[in-house]
Amino acid sequence: MSNLYQMRQEYAAGSLHEEDMALNPVQEFEEWMDAAITAGLPEPNAMTVATATPGGKPSARVVLLKEVNEEGFVFFTNYKSRKGRDIEKNPFVAILFDWHVLERQVRIEGSIEKLSEEESDDYFDSRPESAKIGAWASPQSHIIKDREELERLQEEIEDQFDELPVHRPGHWGGYLVRPTAVEFWQGRPNRMHDRIVYYKTEEGWSMHRLAP
Ligand SMILES: Cc1cc2nc3c(=O)[nH]c(=O)nc-3n(C[C@H](O)[C@H](O)[C@H](O)COP(=O)(O)O)c2cc1C
Repeated sequence: MSNLYQMRQEYAAGSLHEEDMALNPVQEFEEWMDAAITAGLPEPNAMTVATATPGGKPSARVVLLKEVNEEGFVFFTNYKSRKGRDIEKNPFVAILFDWHVLERQVRIEGSIEKLSEEESDDYFDSRPESAKIGAWASPQSHIIKDREELERLQEEIEDQFDELPVHRPGHWGGYLVRPTAVEFWQGRPNRMHDRIVYYKTEEGWSMHRLAP
């Protein structure tokens, strides 16, 4: 492996100016997401979600952002997964978007809650049949014996539903992350990066610049 100490990248693709930033971080985020999509980044809606046990033991994984609105950020998963079990006991998460090609990252922190059954149903019903079967068949995050066991579970579910429509399993659905802090980071030369953070207040949002 090459020497990681010698790997060093200068960032000069852009800059952040308080006067150009939206008053609301969700609006600013939507502009950044549009820029990431326009730039042709692969899966720009892939984000790292960090959860923690009540004892403070963290874990992180990539999931796909499926919606963003004034309330917050939505993703879908198995409620019995490791993240689901963490969230049940400790409903606070951190999200990270690493849009490296643009020399940008967005960090989000907030509380998390399940979406309504109806909203989860709506999204589940829009998924391809194979993904619906997968939601039933995969005991996400649990140890399985081997690949064959997973394929057997998949076949069992396929047989079970046969030609019947596949409805959403109760253990699968959406989460809404309600942001309390959102930070926008833009790489700058000589490690003098731009960081603009929004904190949720009683009145709305306050905006601040952080040292890099
Ligand atoms: C690009 C990418 C997208 C993913 N999207 C999702 C997703 O939307 N929902 C999900 O449950 N897992 C998704 N995964 C898998 C998760 O990273 C993870 O393996 C799984 O959710 C189990 O995590 P846990 O054991 O920490 O609960 C994705 C992985 C990658 C690499």
